[in-house]
Amino acid sequence: MHFSFSAPRQIVFGPGVAGRLPDLVAGLGRRPFIITGAHPDRVAAALGTLLDSPGGRAENEPTVDGVRRLTERARAARADCVVGIGGGSVIDTAKAVAMLVANGTDPLDHAEVIGEGRPITEASLPVIAVPTTAGTGAEVTANAVVLSPEHGVKVSLRAISMVPTIALVDPDLTLSCPPGTTADSGFDAITQCLEPLVSHASTPITDALALDGLRHADALRRAFVDGADRRAREEMSLMALYGGLCLANAKLGAVHGFAGPLGGMIDAPHGALCGALLGPVVETNLAALRTRDAGNPALDRYRLAAVSVTGRPDAQAGDLVAWISDTVDLLEVPGLRRLGLDPVRHPEAVRKGSVSSSMKGNPIVLTEAELFEVLARAA
Ligand SMILES: NC(=O)c1ccc[n+]([C@@H]2O[C@H](COP(=O)([O-])OP(=O)(O)OC[C@H]3O[C@@H](n4cnc5c(N)ncnc54)[C@H](O)[C@@H]3O)[C@@H](O)[C@H]2O)c1
Repeated sequence: MHFSFSAPRQIVFGPGVAGRLPDLVAGLGRRPFIITGAHPDRVAAALGTLLDSPGGRAENEPTVDGVRRLTERARAARADCVVGIGGGSVIDTAKAVAMLVANGTDPLDHAEVIGEGRPITEASLPVIAVPTTAGTGAEVTANAVVLSPEHGVKVSLRAISMVPTIALVDPDLTLSCPPGTTADSGFDAITQCLEPLVSHASTPITDALALDGLRHADALRRAFVDGADRRAREEMSLMALYGGLCLANAKLGAVHGFAGPLGGMIDAPHGALCGALLGPVVETNLAALRTRDAGNPALDRYRLAAVSVTGRPDAQAGDLVAWISDTVDLLEVPGLRRLGLDPVRHPEAVRKGSVSSSMKGNPIVLTEAELFEVLARAA
């Protein structure tokens, strides 16, 4: 057995830990650059004296130009560390800026297909990632997702050196998430536990994290119904953290294989795309595995996931499908058409999805007809 595992130097988790941010920053640098979302007021208490430091606001779904602008500002401020406090969009922006300042480069220098695909050689400036959503796990992953509106694609800038130095995960910061954001980010977290578990690149460490993460899946329903449920928020943050560690150290699958390219094609939140696609992908994968590859260990892993999610030792893979479908109904997750995908664009989505890097982690290679079937079911 061979595997490697990357994670931040330190993960600090728990309600209230955001108050430690100024001290942790002081241990990393003297000229921090602070990146927040559109509403820095939401995190003012956590930032404390850091509010006076140079910085800027990230866009929802960071673009190449937005990352360029903030990188220039961080260079001008001679930043020696970067804080990203916000949702996945903010944390990805912080990770990209910290990498680009240290490498003296532009996002497109490192982007594959639409850019030069140059390797990232220099270590990033130290980063503290403080999530305010419970979904992406970007606080512990090695990539930053950036949108190029011009090319209509989202690309990942990726290097082990882009894993944040410190992940500071305070579930209380997610209490203000409205139900829609809670649902979107929660589906992202569940998907990021499930896809690595069934992927052919799973490892013993990611398996343990994924199965434990999925035990908390029900917290998504509770947090959606009652956003002030602190226990549910804590469980969601834990699941998201585990999902990030899983995705950073194993592979994903067809949900992300489609969600990545679709995020470049339509203006829909990444987590909402995961919610719409998750059930259809699991159903299609199960049918494909049973007919073409009945000995594939992923079949039993879907059963184990069902046990974790439902809490029932006798649960079968079908119970996982039923749980996802019930949750999609409860959380009123929109289908792809409502998210903005006209079915006439399904051929484009299949063309882009079939060659995406996440698709390569799927437990079985889906045929073109099966990829169309996923989109039809998710519509
Ligand atoms: N780097 C990775 O490993 C990784 C993994 C998965 C997804 N992503 C990327 O992350 C991005 C999505 O991140 P996200 O799902 O966290 O959403 P987001 O960061 O785009 O935020 C969604 C919305 O929620 C709001 N918000 C954030 N925190 C809030 C809070 N506490 N209270 C109220 N509102 C709040 C934001 O202002 C925004 O309007 C996408 O660009 C996706 O591609 C990255």
